[in-house]
Amino acid sequence: MSDLPLRPELVGRSAYGAPQIDVPIRLNTNENPYPPPPEMIADIAAAVAPDLNRYPDRDAHELRAALAGYLSAQTGIGLSSAQVWAANGSNEILQQILQAFGGPGRTALGFTPGYTMHELISRGTGTAFVPVPRNGLDLHADQIVAAVQEFRPDVLFLCSPNNPTGESLPLSAVEAAYDAVVATDRGIVVVDEAYGEFASVPSAVHLLHDRPRLLVTRTMSKAFAFAGARVGYVACAPSVVDALLLVRLPYHLSSLTQSAATVAVAYSDRLEEQVRQLRATRDAFVARVQELGWQCRPTDANFVLLGPFVDPAAAWQRLLAAGILVRDVGLDRWLRVTIGTDDQMAALAAELTHCTDLRETG
Ligand SMILES: Cc1ncc(COP(=O)(O)O)c(C=O)c1O
Repeated sequence: MSDLPLRPELVGRSAYGAPQIDVPIRLNTNENPYPPPPEMIADIAAAVAPDLNRYPDRDAHELRAALAGYLSAQTGIGLSSAQVWAANGSNEILQQILQAFGGPGRTALGFTPGYTMHELISRGTGTAFVPVPRNGLDLHADQIVAAVQEFRPDVLFLCSPNNPTGESLPLSAVEAAYDAVVATDRGIVVVDEAYGEFASVPSAVHLLHDRPRLLVTRTMSKAFAFAGARVGYVACAPSVVDALLLVRLPYHLSSLTQSAATVAVAYSDRLEEQVRQLRATRDAFVARVQELGWQCRPTDANFVLLGPFVDPAAAWQRLLAAGILVRDVGLDRWLRVTIGTDDQMAALAAELTHCTDLRETG
């Protein structure tokens, strides 16, 4: 690449790269370990539109109505399809948000460690990114407000539950962040709720009313067990959807995706049971590894930071050699572990007994 006339801000950068390694136990990308039920797959196959010679519905009306219905049922807040926009994964939603509200001469702000794509998509859209370190691994409302006042971002990213640390933000912190952004007379607030279904705090969707600069992004990749289909969405004011329409590619969401996702949303009832199961598996795993002398950070998501390791990269290799892929997110002492099935978590707990030489003590 070095001899190509790349944009200067991309020179020397690495592409997003969770390792894709074919191992028996994959606990590295926070997917739901349970495959969709066979009847859902059959319904998806039956729903695929015969008119693939035609472009899809550019505005994905049916899917947006389905997602609005799902989110309304989940949160108890009535949303119309005009308040929901969908794209190929919430990453594409984030990209459209940055294309519309960021860009050259504008700034996005996020707290680190956080979801690395907030920074990468900012850079990809020519938006300057200000990474503000969390306080240790914690984040409180006053720190968010102070950062907003100092940097006056055009796009403020909050992530709840936060990837990779796992904890949720209380709604009071989102409210305080919103008020601080509005007081700067510029900017929008994006609450990334990719793991919202697992959280024990209410969704920021509760705050949408009368907050036209608040955007809540969601995905079907995690609790919905639909990562392979690539569907994400945002709940926001209809005027924000109008702004996103200015930058989306025409026909960005294929007919195949739209019809498959509309069917999957109709199966959302089964989610509740799986989310309950994954939370129970998570809590049992945390209790088990604590008995074995390890620590876990408090988490409200389907993943957990596990440690403390003297050398997380060496521990990652050791687990990989045992056929278990977890995520080295570049933190001192911690590895991030996605919650899988009970059997997968038992296998990981058993393998950790061979890793005690890598545990930090004292
Ligand atoms: C916090 C967060 N936001 C967004 C995403 C993107 O998800 P997708 O593009 O699959 O919807 C992820 C995926 O890991 C995530 O962790």
